[in-house]
Amino acid sequence: MKFKRHLITAALPYANGPVHIGHLAGCYLPADIYVRYLRSKGEEVIYVCGSDEHGVPITIKARQENVSPQQVVDKYHGMMKESFAAFGISFDIYSRTSSTTHHRTASDFFKVLYDKGIFAEKVTRQYFDEEQKQFLADRYITGTCPRCGYENAYGDQCEKCGTSLNPTDLVNPKSALSGKTPVLRETRHWFLPLDQFQEKLSAYILRDHKEDWKANVYGQCKSWLDEGLQPRAVTRDLDWGVKVPLPGADGKVLYVWFDAPIGYISATKELLPEGWEKYWKSNETRLLHFIGKDNIVFHCIVFPAMLMAHGDFILPENVPANEFLNLEGEKISTSRNWAVWLHEYLLDFPGKQDILRYVLCSNMPETKDNDFSWKDFLAKNNNELVAILGNFVNRTIVLTQKYFQGRVPHAEILTSADLHLLREISAYPSKIAGCLDRFRFREALAEVMNLARAGNKYLADNEPWKAIKNDEVRVKTVLNICLQISANLSVLMEPFLPFTATRLTSILQMPARRWADASRTDNLPDGHLLGEAVLLFEKLESSIIEKQMDKLSAGKKSGGHTEPGASITDFQKLDIRVGKIIQAEDFPEAQKPAYKLRIDFGKEIGIRTSSARLCANYTKEQLKGRMILAVVNLPPRKVGPFVSEVLTLGLPDKNNECILVEPEKSVEAGGRLF
Ligand code: MF3
Ligand code: ZN
Repeated sequence: MKFKRHLITAALPYANGPVHIGHLAGCYLPADIYVRYLRSKGEEVIYVCGSDEHGVPITIKARQENVSPQQVVDKYHGMMKESFAAFGISFDIYSRTSSTTHHRTASDFFKVLYDKGIFAEKVTRQYFDEEQKQFLADRYITGTCPRCGYENAYGDQCEKCGTSLNPTDLVNPKSALSGKTPVLRETRHWFLPLDQFQEKLSAYILRDHKEDWKANVYGQCKSWLDEGLQPRAVTRDLDWGVKVPLPGADGKVLYVWFDAPIGYISATKELLPEGWEKYWKSNETRLLHFIGKDNIVFHCIVFPAMLMAHGDFILPENVPANEFLNLEGEKISTSRNWAVWLHEYLLDFPGKQDILRYVLCSNMPETKDNDFSWKDFLAKNNNELVAILGNFVNRTIVLTQKYFQGRVPHAEILTSADLHLLREISAYPSKIAGCLDRFRFREALAEVMNLARAGNKYLADNEPWKAIKNDEVRVKTVLNICLQISANLSVLMEPFLPFTATRLTSILQMPARRWADASRTDNLPDGHLLGEAVLLFEKLESSIIEKQMDKLSAGKKSGGHTEPGASITDFQKLDIRVGKIIQAEDFPEAQKPAYKLRIDFGKEIGIRTSSARLCANYTKEQLKGRMILAVVNLPPRKVGPFVSEVLTLGLPDKNNECILVEPEKSVEAGGRLF
């Protein structure tokens, strides 16, 4: 191979939500498997990623949650980083595009292109929200699709019929910010003239990479090129993002798809402040972008054009994009909460990350969309991980403990069947490597399982548990070979099942081995003492299916993923005030005994009503005049004929009846809890 080192990237995920199984199967897992494989071969490799923290969806999320965009990305960046780490996604760096290094790198990149006169500057007419005093980029505009009549089409695309649109194509355009009809206003932007790169890109893709790019990737690129490339605006009117580094460009930022891929360069700089250039500026580096199919045009056409225009950097050598993963036959959707979230999986299946890695890899949407189902998850765990891989290793170790006090027995006389098996074992590393080199992860994993199957068959054919009665010599040979298979499995499974590989290496008490060692059949020397046997996998009850299916349909109804705990900003959203009860009345219509209260919260808030279950501990008279705490900014709740405006706070007594929370010293009504 002409390359000396590998620079592997996985698409920077938007920091506007947690990570789900679709993300993992789409690019982070395949890239991780590939990187672990390269490391195991002793190759020079780095794996870079980070959060994509700019773009309109993040600003919309911030508005919805009534916090700043920075608060949104801080929250999700942390969550995503943790989830990836918990699943063993072994980034060398997980950075973020709000970092100073990135802002500087992206800004300088733009400036180089600007100074070279690459950009076309154009004044166009764009929708402007007069109420919010803001230009409306892409998804800030909704309206009726001119093609199919769908009423909630976005300014850039109709999600119903898939047509890509310009905002001005929409019938009855509406601002997503104010709901008002926007007006057209002139604005100036910088365009990357992709048309001028048509020829170079055609040579790069259609000539140089026709053979080695995946058919799905090549096909999409070819159709873009066949249609003829058009100039694309690389700036936006927005106040969240990398500022356009030109005088008079106030209120303008780089388009998120211009700055995000530069994030790969920034992350490398942060990882290797001295050595990053040898990764990005040397023809000896092999640059691979792992992505999902919705990112193909940006990685295969737009980013390469940017890199060509800049001139200092290498181009991607390959862009192994996956198709989409569905869940129980339906498209995964964050907004409809139809997803399996990694942080929730970790709570439901602690320590069982490798099961999910296994199931996602064996269902990876490599060439077409594929499906994840809990039924299949259970079957793959019980029938494959437990019954094939776990069972083989466990029988091998337990029998060795039992017959040879946990020491590797010497292989005595090899039969021709043994010799045949040994040759077969030695061939696995190159067989699996052949699959991985072509990004065929499912096939590669299936081969790892075939090695375990071969081991099981060998045990079944030789029945050491019977042979031990009259032929201990034979049993030594058989178990020696089974132990060597186990050792090799620990090396070959590592890219796919890193946690299990570590556990197996420790059971075997084997020092670290490289990929090539797995073609040897003497990794465990005679007399080597094994560690304690522990099960690699455990059977799961079929009740998990129902539980997870219930959770999915419940989540779909509630329309939001459960959070791993509240943030300080969540807490600050609650307006909790002290108030004085001025009236307490019976509430005969209430389902459980309660009072109707009128509470005075001072000048700013005024008098509010509250239904409160305080009858067990207080009479009406005892309540009048008391200071209490209540949440005053929740939506009013109808309780029978009565509207309860605030939520009075209390604590349970030993009978689980409410006791009021009272200020410990005298305070004014209306004071806010902090
Ligand atoms: N944030 C984008 C997405 O989730 C991917 C960005 S990849 C990068 O679809 F190249 F721009 F970094
Ligand atoms: Zn449509």
